[in-house]
Amino acid sequence: MSEKATRKIAFIGSESYPFVKTGGLGDVMYALPRSLTRQGCEVRVIMPYYNCIPQKFKDKMRFLGSFMMDLCQDGRAFFVGIMETELDGVVYDFIENREFFDWGNPYTGLWEDIPKFCFFSKAALSALNYLEWSPDIIHCHDWQAALVPVYLRTRFAPTPVGRARSILTIHNLRFQGICSIGHLKYWTGLPDYLFDYPVFKQSEEEANMFKGGLAYADRVTTVSDTYAQEIQTGFYGEGLDGHLRYHREKLHGIVNGIDVDIWNSADDELLPAPYDAANVLQKKPENKRALQDRLGLEEDDKKFVLGLVSRLTDQKGLDLVNVVFEELLDENTQVVILGTGDPRYEGAFRYYESQNPGQVCAYIQYNESLAHQIYAGCDALMVPSLFEPCGLTQLIAMRYGTVPIVRETGGLKDTVEPYNQYTDEGNGFTFDRYEADLLLDAVNRAKELYLTDRAHWDEMVLRDMAKDVSWENSAKQYLALYDELREQE
Ligand code: ADP
Ligand code: GLC
Repeated sequence: MSEKATRKIAFIGSESYPFVKTGGLGDVMYALPRSLTRQGCEVRVIMPYYNCIPQKFKDKMRFLGSFMMDLCQDGRAFFVGIMETELDGVVYDFIENREFFDWGNPYTGLWEDIPKFCFFSKAALSALNYLEWSPDIIHCHDWQAALVPVYLRTRFAPTPVGRARSILTIHNLRFQGICSIGHLKYWTGLPDYLFDYPVFKQSEEEANMFKGGLAYADRVTTVSDTYAQEIQTGFYGEGLDGHLRYHREKLHGIVNGIDVDIWNSADDELLPAPYDAANVLQKKPENKRALQDRLGLEEDDKKFVLGLVSRLTDQKGLDLVNVVFEELLDENTQVVILGTGDPRYEGAFRYYESQNPGQVCAYIQYNESLAHQIYAGCDALMVPSLFEPCGLTQLIAMRYGTVPIVRETGGLKDTVEPYNQYTDEGNGFTFDRYEADLLLDAVNRAKELYLTDRAHWDEMVLRDMAKDVSWENSAKQYLALYDELREQE
């Protein structure tokens, strides 16, 4: 085997499709390991054994063993069980402990989540030692795994796993794992010197798990170049911009891809009429009519159908949508929303549906199969985010020949080239400032092209489907980073 085949990478994070997914982190934790495996790495993904993992997956897992692990300042010990399964060459090790992971949802609120992910981070490293699997690189994701680089260089430094180098990827800086210094000290059992400003401390009273991880990781990545720059500024830095500027030498942006096997319109069992670039122009209207039928919208494939698939949170720019909602609608337009989250937005979208029967559908649910049908059946997809580290929905939309309408921030800016009507280039419609009128203008520009110049619209659909949104390139950039770190050993 070549030298490359020996790269051993452990992914540590709080969710992974198909076991548990609440957003894009789950997609990345699934797709990137698969892509790395195809490029010759040996990858193990370590995540919690949540009660909500579907039984069909639990049935296929095998129990590898268990041990007791001390965790807290007072030496309190906890049970750690390890369950394992394999999927397409990637090994998944699940950390079991009923006290922490028996809830119906992976995230339940910071009060429970902080102890839960202190336990998880330490248990993940202990499990690697228990399994005698010693990775070259430990690739951690978001605040839930941010203690891993700190444990690695302190408590675990003299143990076998201590030889690994660490990477911490920021998928979303808004969530950081902040609590009182006393609470974090108690649950981590880590020494006092770490609770100073360079590591965990962020104010006289508070400690921040992400901050500590960012300080101790050998490399920090985030999921687009633009977001890597943005988070070093006050507006996007979520209070950590100074800390990130201090560590900027080790900060890199690597844009996400999507799994092009799962998101493959030509071979998507969830679509009423699968299609590829050769027949998209005939098949999309069929998918549109099926979507209209499923959602109780007026069946008419001439309508401009505008979709939104999103967690309904402030991050996603929904207050802009809210402000201009009535103006988005006219006799040529239908709007489809799929999402759950903040009751404020859920209520607003339900209201618009009730006021516009047959023209608006607000599907307030998490629904994988409907998501596929929306990506296929809509003409355009809105992603007007306030901030967006990468964003996957615009990538999926493009792959399905659905034109994205996005705000120029984070990964949206890096992946959607604005349409240029003079040169007939670009992938979608964009706007820059966070203003509702600009969103409306972008939607109107899209609608106008769709209704009055279908030939150019169709060319954009084909350009979008041809765009490379796979993991291939980005996985290579991670490999280069892993190799750079391995060479430093
Ligand atoms: P984020 O991680 O911030 O939520 P991303 O765009 O990175 O945003 O990823 C969102 C992922 O979650 C996409 O795969 C999208 O299709 C999926 N998704 C979001 N909301 C829903 C929903 N209500 N039903 C099904 N899938 C959803
Ligand atoms: C986060 C971000 C999203 C990104 C995803 C995967 O949830 O909000 O922009 O695509 O992580 O990296």
